[in-house]
Amino acid sequence: MKIGIAADHGGYALKKVLHSFLVASGYEIVDFGAYEQNDQDDYPDFVIPLAKAVAAKEVDRGIAVCGSGVGASVVANKVSGVRAALINDHFSAHQGVEDDNLNLLCLGGRVTGNMAAEEYVQAFLNAKFSGAERHMRRLQKVHLLEK
Ligand code: RB5
Repeated sequence: MKIGIAADHGGYALKKVLHSFLVASGYEIVDFGAYEQNDQDDYPDFVIPLAKAVAAKEVDRGIAVCGSGVGASVVANKVSGVRAALINDHFSAHQGVEDDNLNLLCLGGRVTGNMAAEEYVQAFLNAKFSGAERHMRRLQKVHLLEK
């Protein structure tokens, strides 16, 4: 499984932790930056390229980190085909995939601790969309907004 990751300065430290965690877990990583701590950088510059790669299926899933995770989720959801959410609990990390086909996990580097973030990422990556008719129906209604 190929995983894209991205972060601004607010998420840079957590992205580094998650990068190591994902490599140790056997995932292939595509890192969309930031590649250094720069307090002047802007989350769209890293999250938009990641979101486009998720939409184009160049990566299987994405993980975006900013300070709160809010900006990352706002901008990622502007890209057609991306279903992004800010995740702050384990249940939503897997249920978001199972029911809503979440393909881009957003985290707050200033909010979520390293171990909790690793657990959310693991739950997100292990989860599969159920494909249940009611969820397909709901997602089709979401998809219509992208036309
Ligand atoms: C940057 O200071 C911060 O605003 C950003 O990382 C993020 O939290 C936005 O939602």
